[in-house]
Order: sequence, then structure tokens, then C-alpha cells
Amino acid sequence: MVKVCVLGAFGGIGQPLSLLLKINPHIDELSLYDLNDCHGISKDLSHINTKSTTSGFDKNTLKDALQGSNIVVIPAGMARKEGMTRDDLFKVNANIIKTLCLHIGQTCSENVKVLIISNPVNCLVPVAIETFRKLGKLHPENIMGITTLDIVRAETFLREHLRELNNDDIDPLDHDVISVVGGHSGTTIVPIIPDKNIIKLLGSSRYKQLVHRIQFGGDEVIKAKKSSGSATLSMAYAASEFISTILLSMTHGTGICSKEQKYRYLPAYVYLPGLKNGAQLKRHLKQVAHLDVNYFAVPLKFKNGSISELDPTILTKLSQEEIELLRAAMEPLQINIKKGEKFVQNTA
Ligand code: NAI
Repeated sequence: MVKVCVLGAFGGIGQPLSLLLKINPHIDELSLYDLNDCHGISKDLSHINTKSTTSGFDKNTLKDALQGSNIVVIPAGMARKEGMTRDDLFKVNANIIKTLCLHIGQTCSENVKVLIISNPVNCLVPVAIETFRKLGKLHPENIMGITTLDIVRAETFLREHLRELNNDDIDPLDHDVISVVGGHSGTTIVPIIPDKNIIKLLGSSRYKQLVHRIQFGGDEVIKAKKSSGSATLSMAYAASEFISTILLSMTHGTGICSKEQKYRYLPAYVYLPGLKNGAQLKRHLKQVAHLDVNYFAVPLKFKNGSISELDPTILTKLSQEEIELLRAAMEPLQINIKKGEKFVQNTA
């Protein structure tokens, strides 16, 4: 029996994500929680004829919502408006993540997967890790920041460029044509194209446009929605893809299921110490980018729903442009990480 709990299920991401999870065949029980009462959303979804059951909760019943969950996904919190950076959301959302993680730690089993969507992901995953550390229940292999939207955008935008160049031979959805590492905001987002011939094919101007669009794609959506919200539907899709990957590894037992999913290694923002290949990746990063960070978005493999290893090859074949992008990412990333860590250390 697999139970998935959505915290923030009433929101712009929470509702379409709950719909996508309701139609996922690997979920048996879907639990929907928000400060706004989720009974209505739950009733609506419960009429869909997939096998999972749904339950809605309100702000007084968080414990019941969490009880027995295998995966808890968190899109709870404030979203960006035009002119705001993800960093502007920090204070409000850090408190929300810390409180929710305390409840998860006290209610769920130590094997629960905690997936963070709320922004700024760069700071809030450290908030989650430090909160679980304080509780004495830290399992880094089960805590991830969802950065899948970056790779979804990267593949879409690269495909657009290749079509304009009349090049249909390369399908960006094929394994490893493009990956995205680093963090999940602005210049901390670093696209990597392993086949450097593709960078040559794009040419310098297109390549720069592509990188900029991947790094600042979220702003396009906020502007087009006239500041009424940020990416919600594409984010719900991205989160659902990521959760499907984890569910597949839970239901198939080991490794990844390459026949059923297109990503061999799907990236997420994780705490490197304690993960297989984490020390190796940190060493590589220090060599290439001259800075040491404990958190980084990196392609992952899963086993039984937990991170089993990081892609050890992702930073080994970088172009000069990619090395420069990586170097530019490191300082803001380090600042974001410290901000999240200090928040938990300085609050009771
Ligand atoms: P929204 O404002 O539409 O929904 C947020 C929901 O969270 C609301 O229903 C609200 O009642 C609920 N909420 C607030 N505090 C809560 C608490 N303590 N417990 C439970 N629920 C609580 O916002 P939207 O558009 O759904 O975005 C949610 C978050 O996701 C934002 O922080 C946004 O920046 C982030 N985001 C992340 C992306 C990513 O790639 N990781 C992409 C797009 C947005």
C-alpha cells in the first residue's frame, strides 16, 4: 500500500498535482492537506475511477493527514509575483517548511520521502535537513528539492531551437541529451549538454539564449500571468514526473525502470554528505568551480524509493562555457544554503 500526502493541496500547484497523483496507478491512498479545507477537492477527485482512495483534511488535522505516508510532497507556501525573486519568499516559507517537517518527523516513519516544491528550494532543503537533524531523524537519502521543472523546460526550449535549425535527429527527451545541475533559481541553475557537438550546432548566440531561458523561465510565466501566480500547471506536471520515478523504484524494488521512464538519472536538489558518490561529487565541484557546497541538484538513481546514488559522470566532461556557468552558480548557492541552515540553528 502506497500513501502519498500533499501538503498545500488547495493551491495553484497542489490542485493539478493532486489530480495527476489521483491517476497514478502506483498510489493506493492520497491524502490532501492545506490550511484551507481540502474536503471539497478530495470529494471531487474521489469520483475519478482510479483505484486510489482520497481523503481531505483541514488545518486541525495535519497529524491524520500524515499518518502512514510513504511520500510527503510539499507545495505549501507563498508563490512569487512579478518583481519578486525566490529569495523574497524565504521568511514566510522557511517557517512553513520547518513546522511541517517537525510534524512529519514526529508522525511519519523514518523511511518517509520528503519532497520539497516550495521556494526558495536552494534554502528550504537545508531548512528541512537541519530540522530533521535537530529531531535526530536525518536520512539525507529521503529528502529532496524538486528541480524537475528545470529539466522539463531545458528539454522543451532545446527542442524549439533544434526545430528552428531543422534538426529532428536529436530528441531532447532521449537519455542525457541535456541535464540541469546546481541550484533552483536564476544563475544557480546550470544546464549541461554532454554532447558538445550540440553546443556547436546551436552556435554562441542561440546557446546563450537557451541558457538564459532555462535559468529565468519562471519569470516568463509570472509575467504572462500578469503577476496572478507563478508556474503551477507545468510545475504540477514536473512534480508528478518526479514522484512517478520514485514510485516506480518503490514498486519495482531496485534501481530505475528504464523501459517505463525516459530519465536514466533524474536530477533533484539534495544534501551531498552521506549520499553514495556525494564526496566524489563535492571533490569534483571544488576542483572545477573552486568552492565547496553541501547541497547541489544532481542526477540521481533510486532504489526502493530512496536515493541510491548520484551520477558520478555529470561533471567530468564540461565545456568552457559550462565551467563558467558552474563557477557563477557557486557563490549565490553557498549564500542560499547558509541562509537556510542559519534559520534553523537560530530558531528554537
Ligand atoms: P499558492 O499560493 O497557489 O498555494 C500555496 C498553498 O499553500 C495555499 O493553498 C496555502 O493555503 C497553502 N499553505 C500555506 N501555508 C501552509 C501551511 N502551513 N500548511 C499547509 N498549506 C499551507 O502557491 P503555488 O503557486 O501553488 O506555489 C506553491 C509554492 O511552490 C511556492 O512557494 C512557489 O514559489 C513554489 N514553486 C516551486 C516551483 C519549483 O520548481 N520547485 C515552481 C513553481 C512554484
